[in-house]
Amino acid sequence: MRIAALLLALLLGLILPGFDDRLNVVHYAVDAGEITEPVRIALVTDLHSCAYGEGQRELIDAVDAESPDIILLGGDIFDHVLPDDNAEAFLAGIAGRYPCWYVTGNHEQKSGKERFDRQMEILDALGIERLGGQSLRFVADGQRFTLCGVDDPEAWGMDADEYQKQVRSLAGTDGFSILLAHRPEYIDLYAECGFDLVLSGHTHGGQWRIPGILNGLFTTSQGLFPKYAGGEYQIGDTTLIISRGLARESVRVPRIYNRPELVIVELY
Ligand SMILES: [Fe+2]
Repeated sequence: MRIAALLLALLLGLILPGFDDRLNVVHYAVDAGEITEPVRIALVTDLHSCAYGEGQRELIDAVDAESPDIILLGGDIFDHVLPDDNAEAFLAGIAGRYPCWYVTGNHEQKSGKERFDRQMEILDALGIERLGGQSLRFVADGQRFTLCGVDDPEAWGMDADEYQKQVRSLAGTDGFSILLAHRPEYIDLYAECGFDLVLSGHTHGGQWRIPGILNGLFTTSQGLFPKYAGGEYQIGDTTLIISRGLARESVRVPRIYNRPELVIVELY
């Protein structure tokens, strides 16, 4: 009896922490060559309009605590089912306080054209710039970087060919280059184009993980045992960082050993 109780306690001790879905802040450091001051990027992806406290305070406070120089919004901030309120509240909480750039994910597109247009109007009204198809120079702490972005390949006016064309058109930029792209599975294309750093989301960390054994069970685009589920990868000279995203109640299957992430990337 005592052994059975002990085994049950052990089992519960192993299983219950796996369902912890509190916000996790994950840090990465990337060597950006000759820069004099570190630059801090907050990568926010796959919020899916989920709730993080009253007025999204929990998420906004977590961003503020990191004092990022810029915020990159990597798609699926809106959801195609959940109402846009939580996404809008979060965006309103950061807009005007940080330089913010946005690329779309597949769920903005899934919302349908009419709702998609409304979501983009929310961004416009808040002054959050869309980065899709653009390459721009930005200066942070007196240092110059090139920031590029692509909208999701399922976005309106986009298809697989146009996506490839657009990514290639952004290549060949001066200095340290960053590509914000919702989908990590095109990493061979991104690396071929020579981007120094690629920031992505989309995978939700493969939903279920086993620490030290399995980094993600399934993603919609890569199937079972995805190669690129979450974390940091090196492909030639290109560093890929995939956020496991912030989706919680928008998905029916719970996250296991896969806490929602706010990603902070420090360029040094
Ligand atoms: Fe997503």
